[in-house]
Amino acid sequence: MSYPYQIHSFEQYQSVYEQSITHPEAFWESVAQHFKWQKKWDKILDWNFTEPNVKWFSGGKLNITENALDRHLQENPNGIALIWEPNHPNEKERRFTYSQLHEEVCRFAHVLKNNGVSKGDRVCIYMGMVPELAIALLACARIGAIHSVIFGGFSAHSISDRLHDAKATFVVTCDGAFRGAKEIALKEIVDDALLACDFVQKVIVLTRTRTPVSMIKVRDVWWHDEMKKVSGEQFANFEAEPMDAEDPLFILYTSGSTGKPKGVVHTIGGYMVFTTFSFVNVFQYKPGDVYFCTADIGWVTGHSYIVYAPLCAGATTLMFEGIPTFPDAGRLWDMVDKFRVNILYTAPTALRSLMSYGLEPIVKHDLSSLKVLGSVGEPINEEAWFWFNENIGKGKCPIVDTWWQTETGGILISNLAGITPAKPAFATLPLPGVQPVLVDEQGKEISGVGSGNLCMKFPWPAIIRTTYGDHERCRTNYFTAYPGLYFSGDGCLRDKDGNYRITGRVDDVLNISGHRIGTAEIENAINAHTGVVESAVVGYPHDIKGQGIYAYVIFKDDLDDPDLTRKDIASTVAHIIGAIAKPDKIQFVNSLPKTRSGKIMRRILRKIAEGETGNFGDLTALLDPSVVEQIQNGKLD
Ligand code: WTA
Repeated sequence: MSYPYQIHSFEQYQSVYEQSITHPEAFWESVAQHFKWQKKWDKILDWNFTEPNVKWFSGGKLNITENALDRHLQENPNGIALIWEPNHPNEKERRFTYSQLHEEVCRFAHVLKNNGVSKGDRVCIYMGMVPELAIALLACARIGAIHSVIFGGFSAHSISDRLHDAKATFVVTCDGAFRGAKEIALKEIVDDALLACDFVQKVIVLTRTRTPVSMIKVRDVWWHDEMKKVSGEQFANFEAEPMDAEDPLFILYTSGSTGKPKGVVHTIGGYMVFTTFSFVNVFQYKPGDVYFCTADIGWVTGHSYIVYAPLCAGATTLMFEGIPTFPDAGRLWDMVDKFRVNILYTAPTALRSLMSYGLEPIVKHDLSSLKVLGSVGEPINEEAWFWFNENIGKGKCPIVDTWWQTETGGILISNLAGITPAKPAFATLPLPGVQPVLVDEQGKEISGVGSGNLCMKFPWPAIIRTTYGDHERCRTNYFTAYPGLYFSGDGCLRDKDGNYRITGRVDDVLNISGHRIGTAEIENAINAHTGVVESAVVGYPHDIKGQGIYAYVIFKDDLDDPDLTRKDIASTVAHIIGAIAKPDKIQFVNSLPKTRSGKIMRRILRKIAEGETGNFGDLTALLDPSVVEQIQNGKLD
């Protein structure tokens, strides 16, 4: 596999970038031609940001799995596509060549078809990090079904909400998942979710933990039984469904500033071209490199940079079932050593947690295979950046700080490893085809050095197309704050060399260990608890997680046992959203700082949670300014 669109020098980046901005259509056409299309597109781009309506490569026909799998069968059938490392280091890893992965995907595509799944159907996937998860995604894409993966940390209630929203009639799950020392009973959670979803026709269950599960006649079938039915030679291939470039590939739910997560929709052609282009350039992937992304496929990073982009690039992608600290804090380094990993893509929260274990877990392992390091999910603080650089990269591996979002499909701002300069804590420069702008509160564009809200003024091929079932939501969420621009929700500053530094969300979205959660969502869940009158949730700086969740709660009765009530509230949140959204701190208060019109002044609550003791700004808008002091006096450490 060669990558004619790979950039090899800073000068080349500058000229390619220039070209991609002056002639974006010609630029993306020149990249797209290196993929396998069943029929070429009629039109490269159609767009406006008012509806919004973005179409790339309209009229083009393709199947992304022909690019991710079939295309490599002639050139590199025995090349390793996927390596899977299990949770327990004493269990053996599994490796899939391109030819084996192709066959598994085709067989599972037959299974989906045999169970009634057709093109356009929504298939919800709720599994642990097993190779069958990647196989399930690709099999959906093979037959043209739309997958909607739900991260294994979400509750039955969250699954049910998402199933309703996507009107998903099929579910693929596991009996259970291993996660460090824990075993999570996934099928049981699905069963609870399905009590409220009688429209689900089939549940395909993979056994991983062999946790006892209730298998309901007609509805529930075992993965391995279904695979046995398609064991013959005639099932080793599945003719890839011809898809339109703008047909949906997947839905992925993500949090915003409203109470309800939205189903971000990505379409096939543009997503494939952009994510693969970004993968090859940002990580400077070379054929034969072993690439390891530590993300979970339940989030967008796993979709784009464990499954689709690496496979479309013919790469070897390593996926990991466990957690970085099990059985000890040397787990990732052990894997780097064992598989001779060349490129490691991880998250600042993982690095910060590993930093606290010192160097002993690292020095035991040979990390000399590493060439490139990457970071994603939240701003990487300088301390973590330098630690990563010195102790893992040994000062010789470029670190790419990749900024992007579920909605952007792929990396928009990042240095290109070893090609464009890195700057600690800066995502640095935009990728070709990406046109960032900073605007002030009024929407006025800021030029040169400055800070403001980060927007994009031109569509890149993997931009969000819609929010499932509610296009208006997509418009109001991303395209109305600053007319004519896509608004990311992030604050950002730009230095004199044009480098971007992301400063964090400017809306009510928190980033907890790299997981996105809306404060309104958490408040709704807290308010569902029987004794809660009202609540307000803000983020505060947390050494490991980046941000922690601080909840101010008004409780209707006197509290006999505040600690027990805190646990009750946390358990309510875990039930409604999932354990990832449990508040770290719950402070009971008598009232909240509100304006005369009843709006909660979160700015003040945020400052108190951050530990500020004065300097709350102008309090005259408050109905009762004395509330601030009361809350401050009760602040939790
Ligand atoms: C944050 C994850 C700083 C940002 C791919 C964004 C980052 C949100 C970075 C998207 C980075 C992601 N530097 N902040 N390199 N990468 N973010 O949708 O606030 O889970 O808006 O996508 O994570 O989170 P999401």
